[in-house]
Amino acid sequence: MIAKRIFILTGAGVSAESGLSTFRDKGGIWAQYDIEEVASIRGYERDPARVLDFYNMRRKLHGGVEPNAAHIALAQLEAEWAARGGSVTLCTQNVDNLHERGGSKAVLHMHGEIAKARCHDCGATAPYDGDLSLDLGCGACGRTGGMRPHVVWFGETPLFMDEIYAALAGADLFVSIGTSGNVYPAAGFVASARAAGIDTLEINLEPSEGARLFDHGRYGRASETVPAWVAEMVAA
Ligand code: OAD
Repeated sequence: MIAKRIFILTGAGVSAESGLSTFRDKGGIWAQYDIEEVASIRGYERDPARVLDFYNMRRKLHGGVEPNAAHIALAQLEAEWAARGGSVTLCTQNVDNLHERGGSKAVLHMHGEIAKARCHDCGATAPYDGDLSLDLGCGACGRTGGMRPHVVWFGETPLFMDEIYAALAGADLFVSIGTSGNVYPAAGFVASARAAGIDTLEINLEPSEGARLFDHGRYGRASETVPAWVAEMVAA
């Protein structure tokens, strides 16, 4: 049976071939930076300038990359499924905008978006592609010093969780693409899907630590495995 409502979770592996480092692969971001120092709410409270510098560096890298065949194939699947009366929910842990630039229309960025800034004081959020600094003022509340990237740090709650769990509960296929399954709550989606009797598929470079939790697995580079899977879905 072909799934009508597909829930897709993506992670850093889907953007790796666009040139963005993953986090936990050999030489990945967390091999170079202390996660607690640069990506936690405690790190930000201790040294906000250090955290802003880390995300300024990453924002620059994100500006110079292009979507790859995996992003583009997922956008095609979304359009094709909408035309057939089905649905694709695309939930990403990535803070890049490569899914949107690949053509996806509705992306749930559960860990936020690096191309937006948020005021830590009043919560106002707006697109922002420049460097953030402690001298910047908030356009909404006027306070200075609280402008931060619109990303979720360890110790903060991911975004859109009600919408995400509702879409997951209503799905008939859960697909995890390019994520190691180390970070909750996303790492728990496969168990929720299984408990609800939803078919599960892992697409990754190699089997993740949680691969045995999935009903099916497809392994290899996302730029090859994802278009191949989408082509099969569309042809079926
Ligand atoms: P990880 O770096 O933990 O995992 C990336 C996964 O992608 C690994 O399982 C790799 O095997 C796989 N991979 C690498 N290259 C690939 C390729 N070309 N094709 C397919 N798969 C490939 O990244 P995430 O699981 O996304 O959160 O990490 C989750 C969260 O941890 C991130 O959103 C970030 C990080 O800390 C925050 O900062 C809050």
